[in-house]
Amino acid sequence: MLKSGTTRLTTDLRRHDSLKVVGDTEEIAVRTVHLAKVYPSGQAEITVFRDLNLEVKSGESVAVIGESGAGKSTLLHLLGGLDRPSEGAIYFGERRIEELDDGELSEFRNREIGFVWQSHSLLPEFTALENVMMPLLIRGTAHQKAARTAMDRLVQVGLERRATHRAGELSGGEQQRVSLARALVASPKVLLADEPTGSLDYRTGEGIVSLLEQLQRQLELTSILVTHNLAFARRCDRVLILDKGQLHPMDDRVPPPQT
Ligand SMILES: Nc1ncnc2c1ncn2[C@@H]1O[C@H](COP(=O)(O)OP(=O)(O)OP(=O)(O)O)[C@@H](O)[C@H]1O
Ligand SMILES: [Mg+2]
Repeated sequence: MLKSGTTRLTTDLRRHDSLKVVGDTEEIAVRTVHLAKVYPSGQAEITVFRDLNLEVKSGESVAVIGESGAGKSTLLHLLGGLDRPSEGAIYFGERRIEELDDGELSEFRNREIGFVWQSHSLLPEFTALENVMMPLLIRGTAHQKAARTAMDRLVQVGLERRATHRAGELSGGEQQRVSLARALVASPKVLLADEPTGSLDYRTGEGIVSLLEQLQRQLELTSILVTHNLAFARRCDRVLILDKGQLHPMDDRVPPPQT
Protein backbone atom coordinates (compact mmCIF):
# COMPACT_ATOMS: atom_id res chain seq x y z
CA MET A 1 0.00 0.00 0.00
CA LEU A 2 2.69 2.41 1.11
CA LYS A 3 4.91 1.22 -1.73
CA SER A 4 2.27 1.77 -4.41
CA GLY A 5 1.48 5.21 -2.92
CA THR A 6 5.14 6.14 -3.10
CA THR A 7 5.40 4.82 -6.67
CA ARG A 8 2.38 6.87 -7.69
CA LEU A 9 3.90 9.96 -6.12
CA THR A 10 7.24 9.41 -7.83
CA THR A 11 5.48 8.95 -11.17
CA ASP A 12 3.42 12.09 -10.64
CA LEU A 13 6.49 14.10 -9.74
CA ARG A 14 8.33 12.77 -12.78
CA ARG A 15 5.41 13.73 -14.98
CA HIS A 16 5.46 17.13 -13.30
CA ASP A 17 9.21 17.46 -13.99
CA SER A 18 8.73 16.70 -17.66
CA LEU A 19 5.90 19.24 -17.86
CA LYS A 20 8.27 21.86 -16.57
CA VAL A 21 10.50 21.55 -19.61
CA VAL A 22 7.78 22.53 -22.05
CA GLY A 23 5.54 24.56 -19.76
CA ASP A 24 5.76 28.15 -18.65
CA THR A 25 6.83 27.25 -15.14
CA GLU A 26 9.96 29.40 -15.17
CA GLU A 27 7.82 32.20 -13.82
CA ILE A 28 6.62 30.04 -10.91
CA ALA A 29 8.78 31.00 -7.92
CA VAL A 30 7.44 28.53 -5.36
CA ARG A 31 5.50 25.33 -5.96
CA THR A 32 4.41 22.44 -3.82
CA VAL A 33 3.37 19.14 -5.32
CA HIS A 34 1.38 16.58 -3.30
CA LEU A 35 2.78 18.09 -0.12
CA ALA A 36 1.96 16.21 3.08
CA LYS A 37 2.81 16.77 6.71
CA VAL A 38 1.91 14.14 9.26
CA TYR A 39 3.08 14.38 12.87
CA PRO A 40 3.40 11.25 14.94
CA SER A 41 1.38 11.61 18.14
CA GLY A 42 1.51 8.66 20.52
CA GLN A 43 -0.26 5.72 18.87
CA ALA A 44 -2.08 7.96 16.40
CA GLU A 45 -0.95 10.53 13.84
CA ILE A 46 -1.87 14.15 13.24
CA THR A 47 -2.33 14.79 9.54
CA VAL A 48 -2.03 18.53 9.03
CA PHE A 49 -2.41 18.26 5.27
CA ARG A 50 -2.06 15.75 2.50
CA ASP A 51 -1.80 16.44 -1.22
CA LEU A 52 -1.43 20.18 -0.79
CA ASN A 53 -0.64 21.91 -4.08
CA LEU A 54 0.41 25.53 -4.29
CA GLU A 55 1.87 27.70 -7.02
CA VAL A 56 3.13 31.21 -6.41
CA LYS A 57 4.32 33.24 -9.36
CA SER A 58 7.51 35.21 -9.31
CA GLY A 59 6.84 38.67 -7.88
CA GLU A 60 3.40 37.67 -6.61
CA SER A 61 2.16 38.32 -3.07
CA VAL A 62 -0.09 35.64 -1.62
CA ALA A 63 -1.88 35.75 1.73
CA VAL A 64 -2.74 32.53 3.54
CA ILE A 65 -5.53 32.70 6.08
CA GLY A 66 -7.32 30.00 8.04
CA GLU A 67 -8.41 28.96 11.49
CA SER A 68 -5.96 28.43 14.29
CA GLY A 69 -4.45 24.97 13.92
CA ALA A 70 -5.23 24.79 10.18
CA GLY A 71 -1.54 24.34 9.40
CA LYS A 72 -0.45 27.78 8.18
CA SER A 73 2.76 27.89 10.20
CA THR A 74 3.48 24.27 9.32
CA LEU A 75 3.21 25.17 5.64
CA LEU A 76 5.51 28.18 6.04
CA HIS A 77 8.06 26.10 7.95
CA LEU A 78 8.10 23.55 5.14
CA LEU A 79 8.39 26.22 2.45
CA GLY A 80 11.22 27.83 4.40
CA GLY A 81 13.12 24.58 4.76
CA LEU A 82 12.82 24.69 8.56
CA ASP A 83 10.99 21.38 8.60
CA ARG A 84 10.76 18.41 6.25
CA PRO A 85 7.58 17.23 4.53
CA SER A 86 6.28 13.70 5.11
CA GLU A 87 5.65 13.41 1.37
CA GLY A 88 5.70 15.52 -1.74
CA ALA A 89 7.96 18.09 -3.30
CA ILE A 90 8.78 21.76 -2.74
CA TYR A 91 10.22 23.63 -5.69
CA PHE A 92 11.88 27.01 -5.64
CA GLY A 93 12.05 27.63 -9.37
CA GLU A 94 13.66 24.47 -10.71
CA ARG A 95 15.18 23.42 -7.40
CA ARG A 96 13.61 20.78 -5.14
CA ILE A 97 14.52 21.93 -1.67
CA GLU A 98 13.29 18.95 0.35
CA GLU A 99 15.97 16.87 -1.36
CA LEU A 100 18.80 19.06 -0.08
CA ASP A 101 20.83 17.85 2.87
CA ASP A 102 20.85 19.91 6.08
CA GLY A 103 23.95 21.92 5.13
CA GLU A 104 22.69 22.70 1.62
CA LEU A 105 19.28 23.59 3.00
CA SER A 106 20.60 26.07 5.53
CA GLU A 107 22.75 27.71 2.87
CA PHE A 108 19.74 27.84 0.56
CA ARG A 109 17.67 29.47 3.33
CA ASN A 110 20.34 32.04 4.02
CA ARG A 111 20.61 33.04 0.36
CA GLU A 112 17.11 32.70 -1.01
CA ILE A 113 14.56 33.18 1.76
CA GLY A 114 13.74 35.96 4.19
CA PHE A 115 11.62 35.20 7.27
CA VAL A 116 9.54 37.44 9.47
CA TRP A 117 7.76 35.96 12.48
CA GLN A 118 5.13 37.22 14.87
CA SER A 119 7.67 37.49 17.65
CA HIS A 120 10.56 39.26 16.04
CA SER A 121 13.30 36.90 17.33
CA LEU A 122 15.97 39.60 17.36
CA LEU A 123 18.92 39.31 19.70
CA PRO A 124 17.98 41.90 22.35
CA GLU A 125 21.52 42.63 23.57
CA PHE A 126 22.78 43.42 20.08
CA THR A 127 22.15 46.69 18.27
CA ALA A 128 19.64 47.02 15.45
CA LEU A 129 22.52 47.24 12.98
CA GLU A 130 24.25 44.12 14.37
CA ASN A 131 20.99 42.17 14.17
CA VAL A 132 20.49 43.15 10.54
CA MET A 133 24.12 42.32 9.67
CA MET A 134 23.82 38.80 11.09
CA PRO A 135 22.66 36.88 7.95
CA LEU A 136 25.46 38.48 5.93
CA LEU A 137 28.12 37.64 8.51
CA ILE A 138 26.84 34.05 8.60
CA ARG A 139 27.35 33.74 4.86
CA GLY A 140 30.87 35.14 5.17
CA THR A 141 30.45 38.73 3.99
CA ALA A 142 33.24 41.03 5.23
CA HIS A 143 32.26 43.05 8.31
CA GLN A 144 32.47 46.49 6.69
CA LYS A 145 30.46 45.48 3.64
CA ALA A 146 27.87 43.77 5.86
CA ALA A 147 27.56 46.94 7.97
CA ARG A 148 27.07 49.10 4.87
CA THR A 149 24.41 46.82 3.39
CA ALA A 150 22.64 46.48 6.75
CA MET A 151 22.59 50.26 7.13
CA ASP A 152 21.03 50.60 3.65
CA ARG A 153 18.24 48.23 4.74
CA LEU A 154 17.70 50.16 7.99
CA VAL A 155 17.32 53.31 5.87
CA GLN A 156 14.72 51.49 3.74
CA VAL A 157 12.65 50.63 6.82
CA GLY A 158 13.11 54.17 8.21
CA LEU A 159 15.21 53.19 11.20
CA GLU A 160 18.68 54.52 10.44
CA ARG A 161 18.50 56.70 13.55
CA ARG A 162 18.02 53.62 15.72
CA ALA A 163 20.93 51.70 14.20
CA THR A 164 23.06 51.78 17.35
CA HIS A 165 20.18 51.14 19.77
CA ARG A 166 19.92 47.72 21.35
CA ALA A 167 17.09 45.72 19.81
CA GLY A 168 15.62 45.07 23.27
CA GLU A 169 15.18 48.82 23.79
CA LEU A 170 13.10 49.36 20.64
CA SER A 171 9.29 49.42 20.47
CA GLY A 172 7.39 46.41 19.10
CA GLY A 173 6.80 48.14 15.75
CA GLU A 174 10.44 49.22 15.49
CA GLN A 175 11.61 45.71 16.34
CA GLN A 176 9.40 44.33 13.59
CA ARG A 177 10.86 46.83 11.12
CA VAL A 178 14.37 45.70 12.15
CA SER A 179 13.20 42.09 11.55
CA LEU A 180 12.06 43.08 8.09
CA ALA A 181 15.40 44.74 7.38
CA ARG A 182 17.16 41.59 8.61
CA ALA A 183 14.92 39.33 6.52
CA LEU A 184 15.75 41.32 3.40
CA VAL A 185 19.40 42.17 3.99
CA ALA A 186 20.75 39.25 1.97
CA SER A 187 18.45 40.12 -0.98
CA PRO A 188 16.31 36.97 -0.88
CA LYS A 189 13.92 36.28 -3.73
CA VAL A 190 11.18 34.99 -1.45
CA LEU A 191 9.81 36.49 1.75
CA LEU A 192 7.84 34.31 4.18
CA ALA A 193 5.96 36.14 6.90
CA ASP A 194 4.03 34.37 9.66
CA GLU A 195 1.64 36.79 11.35
CA PRO A 196 4.16 39.66 11.23
CA THR A 197 1.56 42.05 12.66
CA GLY A 198 0.14 39.57 15.18
CA SER A 199 1.63 41.21 18.25
CA LEU A 200 1.18 44.82 17.13
CA ASP A 201 -1.71 47.27 17.49
CA TYR A 202 -3.71 47.90 14.30
CA ARG A 203 -2.01 51.16 13.35
CA THR A 204 1.52 49.84 13.86
CA GLY A 205 0.54 46.64 12.04
CA GLU A 206 -0.79 48.72 9.16
CA GLY A 207 2.58 50.48 8.98
CA ILE A 208 4.36 47.12 8.73
CA VAL A 209 2.01 45.90 6.00
CA SER A 210 2.50 49.13 4.01
CA LEU A 211 6.24 48.74 4.37
CA LEU A 212 6.00 45.11 3.24
CA GLU A 213 4.03 46.18 0.16
CA GLN A 214 6.51 48.90 -0.67
CA LEU A 215 9.56 46.64 -0.27
CA GLN A 216 7.89 43.83 -2.18
CA ARG A 217 7.44 46.11 -5.20
CA GLN A 218 10.84 47.75 -4.88
CA LEU A 219 12.77 44.47 -4.51
CA GLU A 220 10.45 42.43 -6.81
CA LEU A 221 9.93 39.91 -4.05
CA THR A 222 7.71 36.87 -4.11
CA SER A 223 5.94 36.90 -0.77
CA ILE A 224 3.73 34.60 1.25
CA LEU A 225 2.00 36.23 4.19
CA VAL A 226 0.15 34.30 6.89
CA THR A 227 -2.26 36.52 8.73
CA HIS A 228 -5.47 36.47 10.76
CA ASN A 229 -6.23 39.97 9.53
CA LEU A 230 -8.49 39.85 6.48
CA ALA A 231 -7.96 43.53 5.65
CA PHE A 232 -4.21 42.96 5.47
CA ALA A 233 -4.69 39.70 3.54
CA ARG A 234 -6.78 41.45 0.89
CA ARG A 235 -3.92 43.80 0.12
CA CYS A 236 -2.00 40.86 -1.36
CA ASP A 237 -2.45 39.84 -5.02
CA ARG A 238 -4.26 36.67 -3.95
CA VAL A 239 -5.83 35.28 -0.78
CA LEU A 240 -5.88 31.55 -0.08
CA ILE A 241 -7.76 29.85 2.75
CA LEU A 242 -6.20 26.80 4.34
CA ASP A 243 -9.09 24.64 5.47
CA LYS A 244 -9.21 20.92 6.24
CA GLY A 245 -5.78 20.43 4.71
CA GLN A 246 -6.57 22.11 1.40
CA LEU A 247 -5.88 25.56 -0.03
CA HIS A 248 -8.83 27.33 -1.64
CA PRO A 249 -8.91 30.71 -3.36
CA MET A 250 -10.91 32.94 -1.04
CA ASP A 251 -13.15 34.46 -3.66
CA ASP A 252 -14.52 31.03 -4.63
CA ARG A 253 -15.72 30.50 -1.10
CA VAL A 254 -17.24 33.84 -0.24
CA PRO A 255 -20.69 34.29 -1.77
CA PRO A 256 -21.16 37.62 -3.56
CA PRO A 257 -23.08 40.20 -1.54
CA GLN A 258 -26.88 40.10 -2.00
CA THR A 259 -28.25 43.07 -3.94
N1 LIG B 1 5.75 19.55 16.27
C1 LIG B 1 4.46 19.19 16.23
N2 LIG B 1 4.08 17.96 16.65
C2 LIG B 1 2.79 17.57 16.61
N3 LIG B 1 1.79 18.33 16.12
C3 LIG B 1 2.12 19.57 15.70
C4 LIG B 1 3.46 20.06 15.72
N4 LIG B 1 3.47 21.33 15.21
C5 LIG B 1 2.18 21.60 14.90
N5 LIG B 1 1.38 20.55 15.18
C6 LIG B 1 -0.08 20.47 14.95
O1 LIG B 1 -0.32 20.77 13.59
C7 LIG B 1 -1.50 21.55 13.44
C8 LIG B 1 -1.22 22.80 12.68
O2 LIG B 1 -0.43 23.66 13.48
P1 LIG B 1 0.07 25.10 12.94
O3 LIG B 1 0.94 25.69 13.99
O4 LIG B 1 0.63 24.94 11.60
O5 LIG B 1 -1.34 25.90 12.85
P2 LIG B 1 -1.60 27.41 12.43
O6 LIG B 1 -2.58 27.39 11.31
O7 LIG B 1 -0.32 28.12 12.22
O8 LIG B 1 -2.34 27.98 13.73
P3 LIG B 1 -2.29 29.46 14.39
O9 LIG B 1 -3.19 30.32 13.56
O10 LIG B 1 -2.84 29.22 15.77
O11 LIG B 1 -0.86 29.91 14.42
C9 LIG B 1 -2.04 21.77 14.86
O12 LIG B 1 -3.05 20.84 15.10
C10 LIG B 1 -0.85 21.52 15.74
O13 LIG B 1 -1.22 21.04 16.99
MG1 LIG C 1 0.66 29.69 13.21
